[in-house]
Amino acid sequence: MSAELLRSVEQYLSSAFLDGDIPSRLSEAMRYSLLAGGKRLRPVLCLSVARACAKDAADEVTRAILPFAAGLEMIHTNSLIHDDLPAMDDDDLRRGCPTCHKAFDEATAILAGDALLTDAFGHMARADVPAERLLEAIRLTADAAGACGMVGGQMLDLLGEGKKLSMEELRILNAKKTGALLFNACECGALLAGATKTQRDAARRYGSELGIAFQITDDILDVVGDEATVGKEVRHDEESAKATWPSLLGLEGAREQARLHCLAAEKALDGVFSGPDADFLRETSRKLVNRTH
Ligand code: IPE
Ligand code: IPE
Ligand code: MG
Ligand code: MG
Ligand code: MG
Repeated sequence: MSAELLRSVEQYLSSAFLDGDIPSRLSEAMRYSLLAGGKRLRPVLCLSVARACAKDAADEVTRAILPFAAGLEMIHTNSLIHDDLPAMDDDDLRRGCPTCHKAFDEATAILAGDALLTDAFGHMARADVPAERLLEAIRLTADAAGACGMVGGQMLDLLGEGKKLSMEELRILNAKKTGALLFNACECGALLAGATKTQRDAARRYGSELGIAFQITDDILDVVGDEATVGKEVRHDEESAKATWPSLLGLEGAREQARLHCLAAEKALDGVFSGPDADFLRETSRKLVNRTH
């Protein structure tokens, strides 16, 4: 089922930004980063949660919510393009390809990120769901991506360079920079599908725990991963004196924290979600600690 969702997301993204009066250099840079690969975790989580909550047929739910889910991937791709810029993490490799500013230039990369972020909201607004639900999901997404969420987390990440943060400070940083887009994907999936309050709370909890575990494993991969498999530069966090989980707790301590958050993620689903889409959510959390990319 996730392979089928992945195909739907890829198909939607590959036809985005082909038409319209976009200067060709800009659409090339946007499509270059958007279509370079990527696990598509956020849109697939959004759609899986929606399908697990909805009473309608799964295919119909996917069709209705796909533009929203694709918008989440556009926001995420913007965060990656900007994260890699020389003024931020200064990375040369992303999704196994030269980063956007390397393949194009810095100014084009900044604009490609801006355009993906802005146009994402236009795509999200095209989801075929009741307007009230959609409006709330768009508001939640703006909060998750903006100053209180991902962008705020990126600020804390930069301010944390060279500092030894406490575990609580690091957890807050990660919850914002990575957790917010992930729990928002899950919560919005539930909201858009007309979930009950119990389902929506469970989806948000699952996404929050998964989001923290996801950044912990990202930090671990920077230490133990190999560049060809991870698809980005490794051993970069230490060089930049980033505040990371392995630097705070050592590799085993970090793995233990990831395991605990994954268990909490799974637990959030218990008694609330069942069926093939819920199984996929459980499997995603089980596989996370040992991910290689
Ligand atoms: C990388 O995200 C950046 C973080 C938030 C840790 P992903 O690991 O989901 O990147 P892609 O989308 O698969 O390239
Ligand atoms: C970035 O965290 C999170 C984002 C909001 C993009 P990292 O800086 O650790 O992500 P990678 O390792 O470059 O993918
Ligand atoms: Mg970063
Ligand atoms: Mg980075
Ligand atoms: Mg990283």
